[in-house]
Formats: sequence, structure tokens, C-alpha cells
Amino acid sequence: MSPTFDHGGNVFGMARQLGTQAAGIADFSASINPLGLSPLVKQAITSALDSLVHYPDASHQELKQALADYHGVSPASIAVANGSTELIYRLPALLPGRRALIVSPAFSEYRHALDQHQWESRAFILKAEDGFALDVDTLAQALDEGYDALYLCNPGNPSGLLYPPETMEHVYRLCRAAGIFLVLDEAFMDFCEDASAKQLVATGDNAVVLRSMTKFFAIPGLRLGYAIANEALSERLDAVGGPWSVNTLALAAGVAAIHDTGYNRQTIEYVRQERSNLVERLSRLPMLTVYPSDVNFLLVEITNGMSAAELRERLLPSLLLIRDCSNFVGLTPQFFRIAVRTREENGRLLECLENILE
Ligand SMILES: Cc1ncc(COP(=O)(O)O)c(C=O)c1O
Repeated sequence: MSPTFDHGGNVFGMARQLGTQAAGIADFSASINPLGLSPLVKQAITSALDSLVHYPDASHQELKQALADYHGVSPASIAVANGSTELIYRLPALLPGRRALIVSPAFSEYRHALDQHQWESRAFILKAEDGFALDVDTLAQALDEGYDALYLCNPGNPSGLLYPPETMEHVYRLCRAAGIFLVLDEAFMDFCEDASAKQLVATGDNAVVLRSMTKFFAIPGLRLGYAIANEALSERLDAVGGPWSVNTLALAAGVAAIHDTGYNRQTIEYVRQERSNLVERLSRLPMLTVYPSDVNFLLVEITNGMSAAELRERLLPSLLLIRDCSNFVGLTPQFFRIAVRTREENGRLLECLENILE
């Protein structure tokens, strides 16, 4: 039996269900850069095709060097994998202890990976009425109950909220003092790179930063992610993946992506503009509460009693797919998440939402 996954982005399954092509669906359920592949990444993938007759560079040297230069850390403090999900699954076996606290609502794979390794996990729930703010003193009290690891995503997913560097430094020091390992997921940090805690953890002995290349660089189908940690942990994270764990096309794409500063700037500007347009139009609908976001998605709550599941069903005939967030620990059935997509797609979604909700 194949496993079931509770995520957005299931366009192929949805296309089968609707009897249509995946390409025709506007997928707001996975938060992928609406500009699509950078031309330089496409070119790098095409140029690397002939190299498929060889094994990939098992040392991942070129990609690690490019990432190290970009982030100002040592190449030895980087481990690469097929998406950051793979690193999430590699980690629990390498961490000492058995009890984890997960700042929630959060990406469900933290819990699934911990379950696989017989860790016990609990949720530290951020409240919608507080705007999903993180109160470090309350977190400290929860950690006093005795945990070995803390899982935290910054900017938050599904909230989209960025916790500032001072907050993260506070959390890092708190964990350090208490001997708790900090797993800091920065899957969406490319949208606000200056706030990354990468420098803090690169040499520390009690933390790891996880980064995804699939969202910002629009390559979820290729699979590429990396970790920044102290050299000993990075080496072990790499080693558990075995040799050749990242394929030649992904390695080439990663190097081109990190060097494509024009695409990176354009993405940040485009997303900022379109997110602001979306927030402005959505906020005009009185039955929606839109939560503030620093990234390429928005968390929205329906306040007129309709469930996100019903809204999702009603949008499907228009080939618009949103993320019903009711299966996130800590959220009610009224929450949904939408990616910031192209102006045309955002316009179509807004029109349908206005028709359904007004
Ligand atoms: C918060 C968060 N972390 C990590 C991931 C994993 O991304 P990937 O495995 O594609 O790098 C996701 C994917 O949705 C996510 O939302």
C-alpha cells in the first residue's frame, strides 16, 4: 500500500480526479515561485544531460562551494539532499534523546520523521488570536518540561510570519543553555535572507538550519535541499544519505540557481507586489481574515462558518486548487492557505472567491 501524504501540491492526483491535465490547474496549494524555472537553471539542466552517463559528483563540491560563498559559511558546514524533507527524515537518528517539541501549526513531516525513529513529539501551539506570535518566555516554560529537541520554522509555515533575528537568537541561546537541540527550518527564508540564523548555527554544537531549494527556485519536481550545521553534524547528515544521493541535474540546477542574482531579485520584487495586491483584495471580503505574511503564501481564515474544505471543493471546477489547512495541528477547519501566483492566476482566484463568498 502506498503511504498517504497530507500536503498541498497534489496536482497530478487532482488532475486524475478531475479528468484533466495537471498543467491546466492553477495550484495555489503548494507555495512555489510563480515565475517558474529561472532560464539559467533550465539551461544548466539541459547542459548537464550529457553528464548523466557518469555518476554524480559524490562530494557535491561545486554546489557546496556555491552555497558556502552565498551564505558566508564553510563548505564543510553544508550537507545536501533530495529536498529538505530528506534531511528532516535523516535527522532524528543522529540526534541524542527521544522527546521533541514542535512549534505548531507546522509542516507535518517533522512529526512523521520523529515517529519513524520512535521519538515522542508534542506540539507547542501558537494561537491565531495572537497572530501566531512566538512568545519566548512561554516557550521557555514549555521546554522546562524536559525536551531533547525543538523544531521551529522561520518564517512560519502555514502562518507566513517571520520571527526577527533577535527572537531567534533568544530561542537559540535558550536551547543552548538547556541542552536542547534546535532544528530551525528556513524553507522560505530566501524571501527575507537577512533574517536567517545561519551564521548563528553554522559553528554551534546544538542546532541545524534546514533550507529548501524547491520553493524559491521552483524546482519541487527535481528535489534539492541542504542543511547548515557544524562540520561534524553536516558530515554525518551527508553520510547517512550514502554516496550519489543527489543527482547530476539537481546539482547543476542548484549551482545555477544560487548564481542567478537577477532572478532572485525579480522574484522577491514580484512576490512582494502580488502579495500586496492579493492582501488588499482579500481584505475587502468581510468574511475573510488574512494573516500577515513575509513570504510567497498567505494564511486565511473564513469567518462566516464555511469550512475551507467546502471552499476548496467549490473552487475545483474552476481548476483552482487551494490548501485546506484543517489537518494542521492547532488550526480550525476554517483555515486555508494560498500561494502568491501570477497576476493572471491571482485575478482568477480572487474573482471566484468574490463570487462564492459575497
Ligand atoms: C516548512 C517546510 N519545510 C520543508 C519542506 C520540504 O521542502 P522540500 O523537501 O521540497 O525541500 C516544506 C515543503 O512543503 C515545508 O513547507
